[in-house]
Amino acid sequence: MTLPVGIHDISFATTHYALDHAVLADRLGVDVDKFYLGIGQTHMSVAAADEDIVTIAAAAAKPILDRHGLDGVRTVLLATETGVDQSKAAGLYLHPLIGLPNAARVVELKQACYGGTAGLQFAAGLIARDPSQRVLVIAADIAKYELDTPGEPTQGAAAVAMLVSADPAILRLDDHSGLYSADIMDFWRPNYRTAAVVDGKTSVNAYQKATQEAWSDYRRGGGRDLTEFAAFCYHQPFTKMAYKAHRHLLESQGHNPESADIEAAIGHTAHYNRTVGNSYTASLYLGLAALLDHADDLTGLPLACISYGSGSVAEFFSGTVQPGYRTHLRTAANKAAIGSRAALGYERYRQLHEAVSPIDGKYHPVEAETARPFRLAAISGHKRIYESR
Ligand code: HMG
Repeated sequence: MTLPVGIHDISFATTHYALDHAVLADRLGVDVDKFYLGIGQTHMSVAAADEDIVTIAAAAAKPILDRHGLDGVRTVLLATETGVDQSKAAGLYLHPLIGLPNAARVVELKQACYGGTAGLQFAAGLIARDPSQRVLVIAADIAKYELDTPGEPTQGAAAVAMLVSADPAILRLDDHSGLYSADIMDFWRPNYRTAAVVDGKTSVNAYQKATQEAWSDYRRGGGRDLTEFAAFCYHQPFTKMAYKAHRHLLESQGHNPESADIEAAIGHTAHYNRTVGNSYTASLYLGLAALLDHADDLTGLPLACISYGSGSVAEFFSGTVQPGYRTHLRTAANKAAIGSRAALGYERYRQLHEAVSPIDGKYHPVEAETARPFRLAAISGHKRIYESR
């Protein structure tokens, strides 16, 4: 029998600020329902000047280490496409902030929004080799597009941390997984840019094609039938994308779904993403957390997870919700992370968006702004200096 491996704990954090899409719609002169209904977004999380992926990753991971300790954690995989350094893994900055073990490998993973799923699957492989080990997987991103572009309302930010282990308490991963990769320029960010370049319509089509191809590969490998799943957790660059992709997938397989069927399959997964926005690598796992927090008892039921990262790589994988999972959830903390964000005004939003990092190597303190537990205190001698609040 295959060793049960999967998600033992899942925790998320987001930024200090939230921008209401009504504020953006007003400034852009568009009907707010284009955002609220058309793309399915009400707010986006926005990082304060003293936040980045390291501060939100630390905030997501700390509750996991507080609950489970460090025993057996010999690997930390941090997936991001908002890296703070071209060489050093962002996870290493977490050592002093949350007390990671020194007897561990710490690595950064990148493949657009797919990176977190790579981390999860690599973790499962390591645990299959040595079931006494546990792997901390963190997906953290701040999604940024140019101002006044169609991508702007799909910005957002969050980090999800997962403890992956044998005999998981929350989700046992199935052995079957479907894969698809292809070289496509739908969304990318050259090293000299802080905001992504995107061909929006191409990206929507590429996402749908990759989902269908990954699904076909999953089935060829012996995966479950579409009708078996209790819910579908999609990567959500904007929540409507999950609805579109699911309809496309069902129709490609000869189904003719009613809107209510799609809502039943997706609805609960969208609660957090709708107000957080795109969190790239974290988005799918935010959807999973939302589903677990909001759905009726899912014990013993199979879930489908669909990961897409532009460029592109997609994976269709599945898992079974474990007995007793509800006692391990962090529903109140998750809701508090979202509910405690400060409302952001448009002028400060633009200032934050256009701010540039100093590059002269001098000492640059960063004014305290976030109310979250970790902050970037200064950049000095080209080093990023973090502190706990
Ligand atoms: P757009 O072209 O400005 O929007 O941007 P639109 O005109 O297509 O309208 C969007 C929807 O709103 C449409 O619905 C409209 O009908 C509706 P649809 O036809 O699609 O069902 N609408 C309204 N609804 C109600 N009331 C109204 C109203 N007005 C219009 N008054 C676009 C859309 C997605 C192109 C843009 O947001 C964008 O470029 N986003 C960034 C790219 C993106 O998110 N792509 C998704 C797939 S790729 C992916 O997921 C990977 C990614 O996460 C990156 C990574 O992997 O790292 C992005």
